[in-house]
Formats: sequence, structure tokens, C-alpha cells
Amino acid sequence: MLRWEDVLERARESLKGICHLCPVCDMKACAGKVPGIGGIGTGSSAKNNYEALRGLKFKMKLLHDVDKPDMGVELFGQKLALPVIGAAVAGAKVNFAAKIAEKEFAQAQLVGAMEAGTIAMIGDGPGDLYDDTVAALREAGKGIAIIKPREFDEIMRRIKMAEEAGALAVGIDVDAAGLVNMRRSGELVRPLNPNILKRICESSNLPVIVKGIMAEEEAVMACDAGASAIVVSNHGGRVLDDLPGTISVLPGIASRVRGRCIVLADGGVRTGSDVLKFLACGASAVLVGRPVVWGVFGGGKEGVRLLYERLAQELSVAMMLTSCPSVREVSHCISGN
Ligand SMILES: Cc1cc2nc3c(=O)[nH]c(=O)nc-3n(C[C@H](O)[C@H](O)[C@H](O)COP(=O)(O)O)c2cc1C
Repeated sequence: MLRWEDVLERARESLKGICHLCPVCDMKACAGKVPGIGGIGTGSSAKNNYEALRGLKFKMKLLHDVDKPDMGVELFGQKLALPVIGAAVAGAKVNFAAKIAEKEFAQAQLVGAMEAGTIAMIGDGPGDLYDDTVAALREAGKGIAIIKPREFDEIMRRIKMAEEAGALAVGIDVDAAGLVNMRRSGELVRPLNPNILKRICESSNLPVIVKGIMAEEEAVMACDAGASAIVVSNHGGRVLDDLPGTISVLPGIASRVRGRCIVLADGGVRTGSDVLKFLACGASAVLVGRPVVWGVFGGGKEGVRLLYERLAQELSVAMMLTSCPSVREVSHCISGN
């Protein structure tokens, strides 16, 4: 029987030259590896995601009755077994040296998540990349499509494709306006005009997610435009150097839009304790990116399933040791809160 430890061992072999699978994923060894798996430039934004998480400490509590915390969460009409979603991770050709086909990667990522009782996102990119990821979504039957900040008509065409493939929601990774892969391809991406975002939200039959929010005022603007959810994210530190760690801006953002739209967040989630910290800082659920790559390369859809099982197991223990009965009752688990 495959174990998560075996998956990591296999991934270390198959990702040679791409990801070292360091004992601690502090984003140092892969600094500058974009395209690739790392963070842009000095890698500081990705490192800040890691450091900011380390800066938060738990308040341990053991005199209580919480021994089976409820990790379930409902999002986009789905009951999820754990508050973790697979982040969009695309560009197999440039990021993973074409060691895997785009569609095969997306399939493993979508099906592995579903088998673990959760869902995943697919990404967009140059050329026919989106055709492949949407095809994977259609076959899996469930997922979320994240589209690049293109022209209005092109975004709407891609939203239609996602709708027809059975997507639960669509999103735009607005932070991809600066993405190296897109700039090099010559395909136009740029910051999203708020009026265009409003038209997209009005024209889409599916909930719209704005991914790449790092400023409180932009979270409010996204809600005003009609977005159903935001993702507090710096794209895993892949678009701009010297951005703060996402968890350090999350509480301010969440407090501004709580109750108006769903707040999701990502950046540096590697363990169940990391998940709990994001929930305590105001996220309803988190996205996990690079560990999914380890799962796919180390064990295909089974590797991905094992990743979620590991995260669920760790989250359950962390919730128990901090007296958190459910994912909605977690804010007290951080020391000083
Ligand atoms: C190789 C790679 C490819 C990615 N491709 C996309 C993409 O196509 N669309 C998108 O919205 N985000 C993309 N991201 C960003 C992730 O969705 C997510 O925001 C980020 O990886 C979270 O940080 P983590 O990897 O530390 O968990 C990509 C990230 C990586 C590492």
C-alpha cells in the first residue's frame, strides 16, 4: 500500500532538477525558478509566505471534550470533507520540463481531490493549454476553472467552456497580469478593470472567484463588483518580489469582506497546522499548490488523495490540541488572539 512518505520519495526522483523536495519547504532552494516551481526573483514573496506562517504560534489547550473535530465545510454547493482545495497549477511544459502532459496532470489533480472528498482548480495558459485542462475537468465532472485576466470576450468564451464542462465556479487569477509565461507567449494579460469584472460577474452563470487579492480595498472592490469569493494569494510568490506573506494580510482583508463573499487563501500551506492558522486568520478554506505537484509526480491521483488524507489527519490533531470543535470555531487557537 502506497504511503505519503513513498509518494515524496518517488516525487524526489521524478522531479529531479525541478524540485528538491527539501525537508523543510522554505522556498530557498528554488528561489528564482520561474518558470519552474519556485518564486520569482529573489524568491522573497514565496519565502515570506513560509516565514509569516512560522511567525504565528498556537495556544495549546487540553482540558476539554474536543476529540473529533468537525473539518467539514460547504463551498460552491459542495460539502467538502476538509477545508482544503487543490490550487490551479498549470504550465506542465514550462514548469515541469514537459515530464507530464497538461491534461494528465490536471486529471490526477482533480480526481485525487474528489476521491479525498474535496475539489480542485484547473489553470489557464498560453496556446491550447486551457483546452487540455478543461477536457480534464469535463472527464472528472467536477472542479473550478481559473482563467487568466484576458480581454472580456475571451474570458467569457472560456467561462462558457468551463460551464459546459461542468465547473462549479470560475475564477480569474488577476495577479497573472505579470506572469512571465504569459508575457513570453505574447498573449495579452493585464490588470482587470473593475467595470469589466462587474460585467463578467453579471454575465456568468457560475459563481466568480477573484484570485490574487493582497489589498483590503481590492477585496471590497471585488465584492462590490459581484464576486462570490476572493483568494488572498500572491500566486505562490511567482509574480512579484517583496510581497508580504499572505497570512499576514489575511486578517485585515477578511475583516473587511466577511459575510459579503467567501474568503479563501493560499501560500505556503504544507501541513494541517498551516491550514488551521489560515482558518484562524479568517479564511473559510485554503488552497494548496506545490504539494499537489509532489502528489501527482509521486503517485498520480492516489498520491494526491494521500496528500489530502495527510492534511486532514494533521488538521484534526491540531484542532484537537487547540480545542477547536469545528472549522468555524478556530479563532482562539492562535496565541495572543
Ligand atoms: C508551477 C505552478 C503553476 C501555477 N499555475 C497557476 C495557474 O495556472 N493559475 C493560477 O491561478 N495559479 C497558478 N499557480 C499558483 C497556485 O494556484 C497557488 O496560488 C500557489 O501555488 C499557492 O502557493 P503554494 O504553492 O505555496 O501552496 C501556480 C503555481 C505553481 C507553483
